[in-house]
Amino acid sequence: MEDIYGNHHDRMQATLDQLVSRVKMLREEMSRETEFDPIEHILARTKSDQSMREKLRRRGLPETTESALFVMHDALGVRIVCGFLSDVYEMRNRIAAQTDFTVVEERDYIRHAKPNGYRSYHMILRSQEGYYVEVQLRTISMDTWAALEHHLQYKKQHVGNQRLIVQELKRCADELASTDVSMQTIRDMILNERD
Ligand code: GTP
Ligand code: MG
Repeated sequence: MEDIYGNHHDRMQATLDQLVSRVKMLREEMSRETEFDPIEHILARTKSDQSMREKLRRRGLPETTESALFVMHDALGVRIVCGFLSDVYEMRNRIAAQTDFTVVEERDYIRHAKPNGYRSYHMILRSQEGYYVEVQLRTISMDTWAALEHHLQYKKQHVGNQRLIVQELKRCADELASTDVSMQTIRDMILNERD
């Protein structure tokens, strides 16, 4: 069977590289301005052929290159993990202001957390060539929670006390969110001391 992305691989990789270097430039700008590096780490990935096919099947869409690239918007993904809440929003503003990529959709799952406690700022960008990239901006705490919750999801169906587990995961997410607010306050205090 042919790969779902057909002959687009090189151009897809180039799109990811272009966005990652753009973000690195924004990161350097911000570091110069505040003397704080806003980013903890960045990940870029192409959704595997297998997971893309599974997703298309789940959505009842044909398993074609066309639907993988232009109906779905997350064949390409960049995750930007920041130290502080203000870095997430400042990075979001600078990504929205650059001109290599157009913002086609945004979801603020930080101000409006998902019912399970998931938090992140999501943006869908479109390159000039027409490729879509899903950008996830989050703090280290949000990233920790998402990674562990994702890991536990695979084991969920085997346990009886599902309700308690969901409730406890939600509580952890909310405690981490409250720590993010405290850490932001501490950082603001340090920055205000200096000027
Ligand atoms: P997907 O089919 O999952 O792509 O959903 P969607 O297109 O409605 O987008 P959504 O914004 O809900 O989620 C996009 C991506 O965010 C997912 O592929 C995950 O990487 C991440 N995400 C969203 N919700 C959760 C969650 O509850 N837990 C974790 N760990 N990650 C999530
Ligand atoms: Mg998605």
